[in-house]
Amino acid sequence: MGPLTSIFIFAWVFIFTLWNNIQLTVENEFIANYSSSFLTSVPKNILVRTRVLDLSYNRISEFTLFDFMFLSDLQVLNLSHNLIAELDLNVFMFNQDLEYLDLSHNNILKVYCQTVARLRHLDLSFNEFTALPICHEFGTMFHLEYLGLSATMIKRSDFRYITHLQLHTVFLTLQDFSGYEPQSLTALNTRSLHIVFAANQNFSFFLLYDGMSTSENLKITNIRYTLSYKDFPSPSLKFLKKIKTTALTLDNVDLRWGIIFQIFLLIWYSPVEFWTVKNLTFRGSVGKLTEYEYLFLLSFQEQSVYWGGSMKALTLEHARNKVYYFNQAILYRQFSEMNIENLTIYDACMPHMLCPKRTSSFQYLNFSHNALTDELFQNCVTLTDLKSLILQRNKFESLSKVSFMTSSMKSLKYLDMSSNLLHHDGAEKRCQWADSLAKLNLSYNQLTESVFECLPVNIKILDLQNNQIASVPKGIAELKSLRELNLALNRLTDLPGCSVFPALAALNMEMNSILTPSADFFQSCQRVVELRAGCNPFKCSCELRAFIRLEKQSRRELSGWPEAYMCQYPEDLRGTQLKDFHLSELSCNTTLLLVTALLLTLVLVAVVAFLCIYFDALWYVRMIWQWTQTKRRAWHSYPREQENILQFHAFISYSERDSLWVKNELIPNLEKGEGCVQLCQHERNFVPGKSIVENIINCIEKSYKSIFVLSPNFVQSEWCHYELYFAHHKLFSESSNSLILILLEPIPPYVIPARYHKLKVLMAKRTYLEWPKERSKRALFWANLRATISINLPMSFEANEE
Ligand SMILES: *[C@@H]1O[C@H](CO)[C@@H](O)[C@H](O)[C@H]1NC(C)=O
Ligand SMILES: *[C@@H]1O[C@H](CO)[C@@H](O)[C@H](O)[C@H]1NC(C)=O
Ligand SMILES: *[C@@H]1O[C@H](CO)[C@@H](O)[C@H](O)[C@H]1NC(C)=O
Ligand SMILES: *[C@@H]1O[C@H](CO)[C@@H](O)[C@H](O)[C@H]1NC(C)=O
Ligand SMILES: *[C@@H]1O[C@H](CO)[C@@H](O)[C@H](O)[C@H]1NC(C)=O
Ligand SMILES: *[C@@H]1O[C@H](CO)[C@@H](O)[C@H](O)[C@H]1NC(C)=O
Ligand SMILES: *[C@@H]1O[C@H](CO)[C@@H](O)[C@H](O)[C@H]1NC(C)=O
Repeated sequence: MGPLTSIFIFAWVFIFTLWNNIQLTVENEFIANYSSSFLTSVPKNILVRTRVLDLSYNRISEFTLFDFMFLSDLQVLNLSHNLIAELDLNVFMFNQDLEYLDLSHNNILKVYCQTVARLRHLDLSFNEFTALPICHEFGTMFHLEYLGLSATMIKRSDFRYITHLQLHTVFLTLQDFSGYEPQSLTALNTRSLHIVFAANQNFSFFLLYDGMSTSENLKITNIRYTLSYKDFPSPSLKFLKKIKTTALTLDNVDLRWGIIFQIFLLIWYSPVEFWTVKNLTFRGSVGKLTEYEYLFLLSFQEQSVYWGGSMKALTLEHARNKVYYFNQAILYRQFSEMNIENLTIYDACMPHMLCPKRTSSFQYLNFSHNALTDELFQNCVTLTDLKSLILQRNKFESLSKVSFMTSSMKSLKYLDMSSNLLHHDGAEKRCQWADSLAKLNLSYNQLTESVFECLPVNIKILDLQNNQIASVPKGIAELKSLRELNLALNRLTDLPGCSVFPALAALNMEMNSILTPSADFFQSCQRVVELRAGCNPFKCSCELRAFIRLEKQSRRELSGWPEAYMCQYPEDLRGTQLKDFHLSELSCNTTLLLVTALLLTLVLVAVVAFLCIYFDALWYVRMIWQWTQTKRRAWHSYPREQENILQFHAFISYSERDSLWVKNELIPNLEKGEGCVQLCQHERNFVPGKSIVENIINCIEKSYKSIFVLSPNFVQSEWCHYELYFAHHKLFSESSNSLILILLEPIPPYVIPARYHKLKVLMAKRTYLEWPKERSKRALFWANLRATISINLPMSFEANEE
């Protein structure tokens, strides 16, 4: 090995050790778990303070004193499933606290004995011992409670050193069994005895007889016997008096009918109270009962043993009958007449059971996982003490027949009919249940909503999960006592109301087809404290939001929240948990939405109105309208033919009282600037020798447009002057093209005398320009006025002027 390799290995060991130490410190400083770590020897780096050391499932073949001597606190050592061949108990000399030592499933052949004083649990089962490894020193381990042993043969002297120890459990594994000396086991002093016999050998029945004389609880695994019935060793009558066992379990039993009945009778008349047989195979020779066995069976029946004895409960699990030709009715008769409280026949392919002939003592019958049909216990009036009837996993079909089956079972409280083929159609005849029935399990059947027409009236707990129920019909008989209802795994589309279940406290609605649970539920089901509604295809909408809110308010428990509650629809929300799904109040509340919209509109109107009033927006609009109208007209009608006679852009007419404004505002503003406007003012451009009216008319005729400065003054005093003019010039009255009205001050309509019809019409049409009071608006006013007037006068005239 090169130096590099050594360094590498060293580093690796170092890291591994470090890692282990860290791991152990983190987990628990007193537990060292090296289970399944491919170890071939006990690790050297185990912390000194370790109390629990698990070295199971490794390949450790030996260990020495030095492996454990520093672990002075060690209490539990598990070395099971290793390859240890020799055990020297001296190794634990320094482990004074060792209480639990598991050395099962090794290859141990030999033990070197030493007292391990504190040991409570010592397991040496599933090893390769020939004789039982019980040495003298075991007798001084006074704390010993559990002793696991293995051997291929048992002799009477084997237990002599420990007869005085009061043990709790002795576990005995007898692989490759070669012999049992009767009366050996009886030397043991233990409450429980569990014997695992060799799986592939003929069972030694003395183990059963002696075991029953030894401990209260006896369990024997692997009882097979294919030898002929004649070789079967019957127990002595003396034996019956010595039986101590009250609870007996036989596992993996494979026997001929004859032997089974022998054992059956033996145990039946023994003090055994609880008898369990698991994985039982009945056999006959070549699938037939021998003549002997058949006679035995018949005599058995004739005995008419109305089974007495101490037996209280019999359990048969996984029974298989390999005898095909015999009348099974004999068997059913024997079972049905048993005078016991509890009978379980589970997974036995049993197609029928008879009604007991006289009032039966059965209180609990469990016939799960068989082939029973609707014919069971019909018109059977003898099962009056029966409290629980378990008929799970059978072949029942008619719910109404099941109800009639129970009708005479006066004490029946619990009926389990789950996993059958039950259905009920409304047309079927009515149902009649035992009045006492409080708990009914109808889950995993094929029932539809018509099941609600066939339910026991006093039911408290009802399980209807996994059926075909699409709704809970209204108007069914009230179930006053119902507290728990399970409707999971059906086809319901909504939560039911509680009008017919006034006492309901727990409701399971998981895995249905509920899109939107209606919020009425909380109103109707006030007493429900636990609701399970997860795993439904929820549609995340406003209604659902309302439901969740109500649920929160009601402060009842919503089981499985939040993981089990997810949106299924709409697509984009699929998989979102309901707790993360939010919709605004506004988008869900229509009234609120309408009110908000209305309010918004009102506010908008108010703002607009305010703006109009405050900034006089209407005025601007009107001005701009007029301006565009003027521009349009100017575009369309260009009055070429008039050009020659016109000298002025406009003639101004105004009341004497407004002359100040005209002279200070109007004229200066219009005549200044680039687009200089020529105005004809009758005072300024006065032609001597003509009357005022003539002058005015003259002025008007030379002007392209006429500007009237309107005000209450003007209307009252001046207007009449121009009536004449209007009379002459229909042109102006027909089109207001040449007429420009400036409203200097508002004219209340009543101020205008009635005869000024024309003026009223003009005013009504609002074809005037208003003189704005606010300075800021005046620029627009002037621009508008200019635009109205603007026209190119003939060139000659302009040249003249200049
Ligand atoms: C050690 O770990 C195994 C599984 O790796 C586990 O089964 C066993 O119970 C553990 N032992 C102890 C003493 O916790
Ligand atoms: C080893 O024995 C201990 C002590 O009873 C136990 O906790 C642990 O689970 C056993 N280990 C395995 C792998 O069974
Ligand atoms: C029982 O013994 C007979 C005869 O020795 C043998 O043929 C049979 O296989 C044995 N049965 C079992 C279950 O080992
Ligand atoms: C039941 O017994 C049969 C034969 O007797 C055996 O093959 C089978 O493994 C056993 N089943 C169980 C679950 O122990
Ligand atoms: C019968 O079975 C019921 C229900 O499992 C149980 O409560 C009762 O203790 C059993 N009685 C006997 C005698 O085993
Ligand atoms: C019926 O018996 C089987 C087998 O013993 C048992 O597993 C099951 O729990 C029993 N059922 C009830 C409801 O007691
Ligand atoms: C009804 O039976 C089913 C299936 O056997 C079981 O899962 C469920 O727990 C039972 N219900 C009640 C209320 O015992």
